[in-house]
Amino acid sequence: MTNNPSENHYKKIANIYDNLWSYSPEYIKFTTEKIIEHLHLTPTDILVDIGCGTGIYSKEILNQTQLQQPIICVDPSAEMLEKIPTNSLLNPIKMDGVEFSQKPGTYNKIFLKEAIHYIEEKFLLFQNLWQKLTPGGIFLLLLLPPTIEYPLFTKALDLYEQKQPHYQELINLLQKVGFLVDFDIIDYPLKLPKIQYFQMVENRYMFLLSEFNDTELAAGLKEMEEKYQDNSVLKFSDRMIFITATKPEYN
Ligand SMILES: C[S@@+](CC[C@H](N)C(=O)[O-])C[C@H]1O[C@@H](n2cnc3c(N)ncnc32)[C@H](O)[C@@H]1O
Repeated sequence: MTNNPSENHYKKIANIYDNLWSYSPEYIKFTTEKIIEHLHLTPTDILVDIGCGTGIYSKEILNQTQLQQPIICVDPSAEMLEKIPTNSLLNPIKMDGVEFSQKPGTYNKIFLKEAIHYIEEKFLLFQNLWQKLTPGGIFLLLLLPPTIEYPLFTKALDLYEQKQPHYQELINLLQKVGFLVDFDIIDYPLKLPKIQYFQMVENRYMFLLSEFNDTELAAGLKEMEEKYQDNSVLKFSDRMIFITATKPEYN
């Protein structure tokens, strides 16, 4: 496996990940409904969740569907995978996404949410996933847009923009592999107590925040404190790009 710089980050935050990232149970329910819809999930599908983390979305998929086969949950972080409850319908596999895509296996549906920025060999991954999918199978790629409206400090937003892959580049790669590609932008209005969001930032809830040392983070929080001094609640939109890549029935 390649040396992955995010490994240390997820090792540190695995225990608090679901609290940090879930914003609210309604947010998880809503996003999961959209994942199920875009994947056209049916009970007999064999589903893979690549970069599953704590399995927060796979668990909710099980709540909302009647899947008969276990969801294959793939992630290189042992600490994140440990949070997945022992459940005969969740099958955790500790592995890098590209490595998994090279192993034998056939699946109807695959999704990868907010982990593509960790994968360097994107074209290889997409080619391999094409091979693993049945005709008519769907690969759903979810990621944040090139710019975000989060109430973060300026340097964090700038760094985000430098690092985030552009969804159009990913669409181009998927089309080059032969997928039929569609995309959708879904907004979810968030309303968080300022104190909660500031704690999330203090805990470096996003990987990019781990690139700032304690002094830089403190300066960033001070900037946020000044900017939002009159707010006790922060309102912002979480915008997610849903890229649906379908393997045609006939080539
Ligand atoms: C922001 S979390 C997203 C977790 C989950 N998909 C979600 O939406 O809650 C990113 C996850 O990607 C995983 N990851 C990092 N590098 C990866 C790789 N090369 N292949 C697959 N997953 C990777 C991390 O361990 C982490 O669990």
